[in-house]
Amino acid sequence: MASLRDLYPIPDIDPCWTVPQGFESAFDWEYDDGRKQMMHLYQKGKDMQWDALSRIDWDEQLGAENPMEIPDETQGISYTPVWARMDKKEQAEMRQHFQAWTTSQFMQGEQAALICAAKIVQQVPDLDAKFYASTQVMDEARHVEAYKKLLQKFGVAYPMTKPLQTLVDQALRDSRWDMTYLAMQVVIEGLALAAFSNIRDIAKNSLAQQVNAYVMQDESRHVAFGRLTLKEYYPQLTQKERDEREEFLVEACYHMRDRFEAREIYEILDLPADECIQAQFESGYLQHFRSMLFQRIVPIVRDVGLWSDKIQAAYREMGVIDFAQTDYSALSARDNERAEEFDEINKRKRQEYVEDVAALGAKVAAAE
Ligand SMILES: [Fe+2]
Ligand SMILES: [Fe+2]
Repeated sequence: MASLRDLYPIPDIDPCWTVPQGFESAFDWEYDDGRKQMMHLYQKGKDMQWDALSRIDWDEQLGAENPMEIPDETQGISYTPVWARMDKKEQAEMRQHFQAWTTSQFMQGEQAALICAAKIVQQVPDLDAKFYASTQVMDEARHVEAYKKLLQKFGVAYPMTKPLQTLVDQALRDSRWDMTYLAMQVVIEGLALAAFSNIRDIAKNSLAQQVNAYVMQDESRHVAFGRLTLKEYYPQLTQKERDEREEFLVEACYHMRDRFEAREIYEILDLPADECIQAQFESGYLQHFRSMLFQRIVPIVRDVGLWSDKIQAAYREMGVIDFAQTDYSALSARDNERAEEFDEINKRKRQEYVEDVAALGAKVAAAE
């Protein structure tokens, strides 16, 4: 299989990105029994490991015209004269690049989660949290693996987009351990979950559905981990320290909402980038999607106690304050059910395959 680097349409991408670190690695020499909820989460993390190679049927393919079989409305550009002027081949190429760009950001974000989870293992003071975070490291490696395999089927891949890179850079450089949680488990994973669920639910291609459903089943544990840790930690900080966290959150949310524009695709395909981006931001679908992105962030922010009037005002201005009432555990339960539904389908398919082969064998034997 080709390395993804060969699939980047942008020339001269650095093969490696390094972020300097200046934090303390903490050992916990108490070895106590750990907090009950944290140890429960750790146990779940161990019990629910899975293998990306065997759980997913990788023989399934993506379509040539519309790889993940998603509606054209999801690309803002489909409302523009630019799209109307394209012939069928150019439209297919646009879908391929748009969907590969999205999937690439998922995969790049997963590698960022892998690195951040490993940083948490080192930095977090308590051993039970280190135990849990170590299961997350393995989960994130598997997510990178799964998205990479999916991307190889597109035949094109994109590097990490700049706005995401900026946020990841901040999460890694900050020497305060909770900031890695805040940037990764709350903001990036929150956005990712909304984006994954969107593909899981609108794509008609079963491979794309499965990869997203299985990844999401793990992500709910990651969010629960961040929530549990920060909910206990934030009341111990001063108001000034909490204010700093809130400022970071507001800035990060605006940044991710307004800067995630996929300019790279339009440039590569030689399209009028400004016009396409403008259409994208104005399209009804994207406006809805941009606010839905916060469905899984706002309730967690409120729950961990970063909920001053200031942050509420910012979320009100963004039009996402009502998400504070989201029933988060119902969403997580649904994510889990969706993954189990795919397990059932796969089990049935395997069974049918075995029966078909047996029936064919019987037929051959009878003819002889
Ligand atoms: Fe992940
Ligand atoms: Fe995660």
